Amino acid sequence: MILMRKTKRTPDVDRQVVEAPAIAPEASASANKPNLLSVDQAVNMPLEQMSQLFVDHLNPGQLHFMKLLGFHKVKIESAEGVFYTDQNGRKILDFFGGFGSLSFGHNHPRILAARKKFQEEKRHEIAMAFLSQYAAALAHNLATIAPDDLDMVFLGSSGSEAMEAALKVAERYQGPKKSKILFAENAFHGKTKGVLSITDSPLYQSQFNLVDDVVKVPFGDLEAIRTALDNDPEIGIVCLETIQGGAGIIEATPEFWQGLRKLCDEKDVLWVADEVQSGTGRSGKFFAFEHYGVVPDVTALAKSLGGGKTAMAAMIARKPIYMKAYGKPATALIHGPATFGGIGEACITSIEALNIMYDDDLMENAENVGAYLKAQLQDLQARYPKLIKDVRGRGFMLGLEFQDFSKTMPAVVRPALAMLDEKLKGSLSGFIGSALLREYDVLVAFTEYNRNVVRLQPPLITTRENVDQFIAALDKVLSGGVIKIVTDFVKSQRG
Ligand SMILES: Cc1ncc(COP(=O)(O)O)c(C=O)c1O
Repeated sequence: MILMRKTKRTPDVDRQVVEAPAIAPEASASANKPNLLSVDQAVNMPLEQMSQLFVDHLNPGQLHFMKLLGFHKVKIESAEGVFYTDQNGRKILDFFGGFGSLSFGHNHPRILAARKKFQEEKRHEIAMAFLSQYAAALAHNLATIAPDDLDMVFLGSSGSEAMEAALKVAERYQGPKKSKILFAENAFHGKTKGVLSITDSPLYQSQFNLVDDVVKVPFGDLEAIRTALDNDPEIGIVCLETIQGGAGIIEATPEFWQGLRKLCDEKDVLWVADEVQSGTGRSGKFFAFEHYGVVPDVTALAKSLGGGKTAMAAMIARKPIYMKAYGKPATALIHGPATFGGIGEACITSIEALNIMYDDDLMENAENVGAYLKAQLQDLQARYPKLIKDVRGRGFMLGLEFQDFSKTMPAVVRPALAMLDEKLKGSLSGFIGSALLREYDVLVAFTEYNRNVVRLQPPLITTRENVDQFIAALDKVLSGGVIKIVTDFVKSQRG
């Protein structure tokens, strides 16, 4: 496939922004109604006003990062399958996939239809007083998919919430004398206060009083875990991402996982597998731990469980663990139900998504097309060894690591680089990601703890043709070499 630089779109999105006047709240019919924006006004809001409201009310610092890479110039008007469409009608190929939240792509027609029917039938959402047929069916489906006696489900709305539930059920089972949590270096488990304690980031953790009964070991190091457990009988929970996402797509060996299972059994320690990012089919199996022939005691899902259309998360525990923790009337309300856990339309969205996963063989597609993508990336690595350091991962959870140029940027670009934000200086991934979006209409994701890694987590419906488009774009960017990649980026900042 030959990829040409696009000329169709207006390059200066900013000019268009200036021309579009900010939308003011309409005068209200009711004297008591404050000046609120309407849904139509939200939909039609010009970019400049979006930025302003972000600064005024959401997250000014986040806008700063979007500006660094030029992402703030894009207004998404719609999204379908593996493409976004922006304000200029340009279709952007989504290889970012919402950090793994878009396994079914954007606006999957079957998911839209299920939600529409649910709405048209005026079905109820909040099911605190009555039993919910929707929550019951979703819990059944998850228990059916999950191996062994991973049968008991808590429904929530975010990965952090599901992981909090996972740690709490494990602690309830182990009791206060065995409640210490072992976690891994470079782990990411969320930012709520409990899981933040086992999210290995000094930046995210600083300034907070965290749970201090935690022990950190290198990821994938069985001997380090054995030593920790031998030395400290109060450790009762080992919590690990099955594939580390925020660290830049890091896997442990099958021997590690099999050894971990044995060790946890020997020491009566519970293994909590965080599958928030690696689960729901992303790795080519429903749970990534299935690649290693072992089953944890507790696991957690979120992200794509919502079908790309809603916020849905689940903690799934082995039945005896759950029953000991919360199985009696006296303990049933200690954790849950959450107000929005098991909300009707979210449940039917997830139920439909899980059915699509199997009806359309999406995990097979992730495995096959993911392997194709990985092979194409390895081919690029062989052709550009000075730029690409590593290609890793499985299914549609791939990491592309660029060489670290923080100390070796060519002298000619150093003066231009000196003008840039600290975060950008040595990082090829930012410049390359920006070029992919600017010049080739492709979106990729960056990585929390390793700024040289681009994460590729496209929807599981991604085809070989989509991969070819992505690889051709990346090839074009890389073929310019470091100096061109950097100077193009600096020019784009000025433009
Ligand atoms: C492995 C893992 N666990 C937990 C979380 C937290 O999920 P959420 O952002 O939905 O709270 C994330 C989010 O990226 C994650 O990747």
